[in-house]
Amino acid sequence: MKVLSVASECAPLIKTGGLADVAGALPAALAPLGVEMRTLLPGYPVVHDALENPVQVFTDSNLFGGPAQILHGRAGGLDVYVLDAAHLFYRNGGPYAAPDGFDWWDNPERFAALSWMAAQICTYGAAGWKPDILHTHDWQGGFAPVYLQRLGGAHTVGSLITIHNIAFTGSVGADRMGWLRLPIEGYNAGGFEFFGRISALKAGIAYSDRINTVSPTYAEELMTPGFGMGFDGILRHRSADFSGILNGIDTGVWNPATDANIAAYKAPRGKARARAALAEELGLAPDGGPLCVVVSRLTEQKGLDLLLQAVPALLERGGQLALLGSGEPWMEQRFGGLAAANPGRVAVRIGYDEKLSHRMIAGGDAILVPSRFEPCGLTQLYGLRYGTVPVVAHTGGLVDTVIPSTYATVSAGVSTGVVFAPVEADALRRALVQICDLYGQPDVWQRIQANGMKHPVGWEQSAAAYAALYEQAARKP
Ligand code: ADP
Ligand code: GLC
Repeated sequence: MKVLSVASECAPLIKTGGLADVAGALPAALAPLGVEMRTLLPGYPVVHDALENPVQVFTDSNLFGGPAQILHGRAGGLDVYVLDAAHLFYRNGGPYAAPDGFDWWDNPERFAALSWMAAQICTYGAAGWKPDILHTHDWQGGFAPVYLQRLGGAHTVGSLITIHNIAFTGSVGADRMGWLRLPIEGYNAGGFEFFGRISALKAGIAYSDRINTVSPTYAEELMTPGFGMGFDGILRHRSADFSGILNGIDTGVWNPATDANIAAYKAPRGKARARAALAEELGLAPDGGPLCVVVSRLTEQKGLDLLLQAVPALLERGGQLALLGSGEPWMEQRFGGLAAANPGRVAVRIGYDEKLSHRMIAGGDAILVPSRFEPCGLTQLYGLRYGTVPVVAHTGGLVDTVIPSTYATVSAGVSTGVVFAPVEADALRRALVQICDLYGQPDVWQRIQANGMKHPVGWEQSAAAYAALYEQAARKP
């Protein structure tokens, strides 16, 4: 089975969030199951820099306003196709936004171009390699199955779209339809029309053979108006082809016993060293606890404004908070102010720092994920692996990965964390009180840590589920 994965970000090359981790992990996770995956990436400067032994396999003299070629090679340990189109991707800045923080003005054609090339590779093959499956992620690859149909490739190639985040719709005015090479007959409620505009995500959902998202609970939630953000109707309509497959994490990179970013330890007992080192690094008082950590984008989705309201309940009980994140300026400022007002008890680091994220997750007692919606979430999985007890909102993939501490589960000794609902400040406050209580009972606490460390967080089960989905989507001869 040959699969072309189309991703706008991919670890270890370029990352803004969990999508990159998943796109980067899938090829190795699927290889033992006989799936040969290659990944098509935009030719951002960092991707070109990492590309080894590039071979040109495709050219196009005018791809949305400039010349382009597809290069095949290896980068970051992956087998990749790189869309080399300097006018679209060779820029300083992020994958989606310019250095000023605003989205690139030409995002629709940048990712239409990526999608067009994906459909070309699937339809005609690239240097003798022709995929059986087109696997796209989020809105950035959404037009690919439309183009695949237009080019005739859909007769031989099946398609799957994975929804990582429904909040980004890839929306563009309907007047751009011709320029974006979209067929007018697709502009309707069952196609890529979305509230009077065009949505690349809607295109992906409407035209792909199979659709999945990154946890079973989020799949159910997405079919409701409260979570579907306007896509719940089409997802209900396509429910027979729609499923949830839980993300895994790279258990080689996130392994407390071998982690190069920390003094490696065997949790839970060896954890004390990592905790002490973290407290010292961040200027936190060595006593007290639980030390609760957050590693997150600072956006509305992540519910960290609720934490700003609830955090006194933690601090009053001797707990501490350490946060690493970046995002909305007002939130960065509020957390900065919280740290300034609570020296030794609250530490805040604004920015993106992979190594520090390891030290924080290794050194924390608990990790907080109070998201309003969370398709899967990865940091609670890292927490489980490191004996860092997750405190999570009752939503999406958080529900599917953490066993809540209730009277029954604590008595039976099976819980792995704390889950709170509804996703409001009061419930989070109660969860923080609960985590302090549990932390105050060392036997119970160590049992919860040990349970979490045994919880399966790798890719094995989910890789098999993806392989099965590819089988379902494939064209039978
Ligand atoms: P999302 O993709 O919605 O941001 P996930 O939990 O799926 O949420 O993935 C987030 C990923 O980004 C994790 O690997 C997390 O460790 C990482 N991350 C988020 N913020 C930072 C940061 N400030 N520094 C380092 N890593 C971060
Ligand atoms: C998204 C979601 C996150 C998920 C990640 C990878 O960014 O917000 O919950 O873990 O994609 O699938």
